[in-house]
Amino acid sequence: MKNKIGVGIGAALLGMFIGGAGVSTAWSIQLKGGAKTPAPQATQSGTDDAVARTEKVVQMLDDLYKTAIVAITKHYVNSPADLSAATASKVLFQALEDKGHMETRLLGFTDVLINGENAPRDAFEEKARDQLLAGAPSYQEVAEEDGKRYLRVATTVPVVMEKCVMCHANFRDKEGAIGALAYKMPVLE
Ligand code: HEC
Repeated sequence: MKNKIGVGIGAALLGMFIGGAGVSTAWSIQLKGGAKTPAPQATQSGTDDAVARTEKVVQMLDDLYKTAIVAITKHYVNSPADLSAATASKVLFQALEDKGHMETRLLGFTDVLINGENAPRDAFEEKARDQLLAGAPSYQEVAEEDGKRYLRVATTVPVVMEKCVMCHANFRDKEGAIGALAYKMPVLE
C-alpha cells in the first residue's frame, strides 16, 4: 500500500543509506545554536556554556538512538513476535542509568500504549507532550534538584516506517509526534 507512511519509510531509509542525513534531519533535535533553532524554551536557570555542552551530548545520543531504532526495525523486526527496537533501546537506557550517566525514557502520546509506563508522568513530560503535539520538534528545561542542575530534553518520535504499524495499529495515518525520547542529564558544569 502506498500511503504517507510508505513515502516516509523511503525517505527515512534512503537517508540512512546516503549518510544518515534523512534520519537526522527528520528527527534532529533543534537546540540552541542550531541553524533552524527556535529560541530555547523554558530554561529556568538561563543557558550558558555548561548547558550548551550538555545539549550537544544529548543531541548526539538522540541521533544515535533514533538511527539504531530505525536500523533495528528495518533489519531485525519482521513480525510482532520479534523483539522491538523500543524494548532493545530500553536496555541501553537502563545501562546508562545504572552507570549514573543519565536517565532516558520512551514516551507514548497516543490513546493506546503498549506499555502504560511510557505515559508522560511528571510536569516536564506533560508539558513536553503538549509542545510536541503542537508541532515543536523538541522541548527542554533546566531543572534544579538538591543544588544540582539537570538538562531535560524531549524530542519527537514520529511514525517513520510502515513497519511501526505492524505492532502499533493506532499509528496508521498518524502524522507528527506519536511519542518522544525524554532525556534527563546532569549539566556538565
Ligand atoms: C515488533 C513490534 C513493534 C514494532 C515493529 C514497533 N514497536 Fe513500538 N513498541 C513495541 C513494544 C513491545 C513497546 C513497549 C516497550 C516497553 O515499554 O517495554 C513499544 C513502545 C513504543 C512507544 C512507547 C509507547 C507505547 O506504546 O508503549 C513508541 C512511541 C513506539 N513504540 C514507537 C514505535 C515506532 C516509531 C516504531 C517504528 C519505527 C515502532 N514503535 C515499531 C513494539 C513494536
